[in-house]
Amino acid sequence: MIASNRPGPRLTRVQLLREIGLSPHWQLRESATAVGAKPVVTARPEVALSHSGGVEEVAPAHTPALADGREEEIAGMGWEQLRESVATCRACALCQGRRQAVLGVGDVTADWLFIGEGPGAEEDARGEPFVGPAGKLLDAMLAAIDLQRGKDVYIANAVKCRPPGNRTPEPTEITSCAPYLKRQIALIQPRLIVLLGRAAAHALLGDVGSLASLRGQSFAYPAPAGSAYGIPVVVTYHPAYLLRTLPDKAKAWEDLCRARTLMRAAKTAAAESASQPATSPT
Ligand code: URA
Repeated sequence: MIASNRPGPRLTRVQLLREIGLSPHWQLRESATAVGAKPVVTARPEVALSHSGGVEEVAPAHTPALADGREEEIAGMGWEQLRESVATCRACALCQGRRQAVLGVGDVTADWLFIGEGPGAEEDARGEPFVGPAGKLLDAMLAAIDLQRGKDVYIANAVKCRPPGNRTPEPTEITSCAPYLKRQIALIQPRLIVLLGRAAAHALLGDVGSLASLRGQSFAYPAPAGSAYGIPVVVTYHPAYLLRTLPDKAKAWEDLCRARTLMRAAKTAAAESASQPATSPT
């Protein structure tokens, strides 16, 4: 059993892997499926690396146009305004059933951004994402790759209000909430984004296929201002799904190892580009 939703540092990796349902011989290692050594360098969000390392076209990162001007307004918000706006948002019907909106939790300068689906009953009551059983598994998954909630990690959801009966959010609800997620990404400027499940994939990538087909592909979220690099995006299974489908935990572990490899590559690339002498204009 996992004693709390924040596994303490005393658990060994083997114990953690046991907690997330993987046998002890699974050890963190470089993923055989990792794409090339560097993240996608492109001004075009719709380009990704294929398994073979070649460049392939994928659906663009999802940026639905909203007619009501909300997107532009939200795009200019700082954290305080964003929190206030999310708390009072009435842009879709999900607001009717919420106790409170759940913006996200963690380090607002984090390298790692994990995005889930939407708050469940416990998250709606406590105002924090992933605090129920799926959250306990997420915390164990984070710990297995030496991460901890709140330390260089930010956790958000595709929608900020609880869908009734914990159903999957509708595409229109994801679209309504997308400007908030976009703004969170712009403010955090993570080095890597992990999408947990299909709703999160839908929010960022659009309706581009089954989760199984998205796993293993590397997508690039548009480069933040001032950066030459798109943000690598890794798609994996949602922890709630993994609680019901134990055999797929091994696949999620592969995805986490791959994410860790991509993070290392992103940090190396950023360090290399920071050490390049500035080129003088010709
Ligand atoms: N599932 C999610 O996707 N998000 C949460 O915050 C909780 C459960």
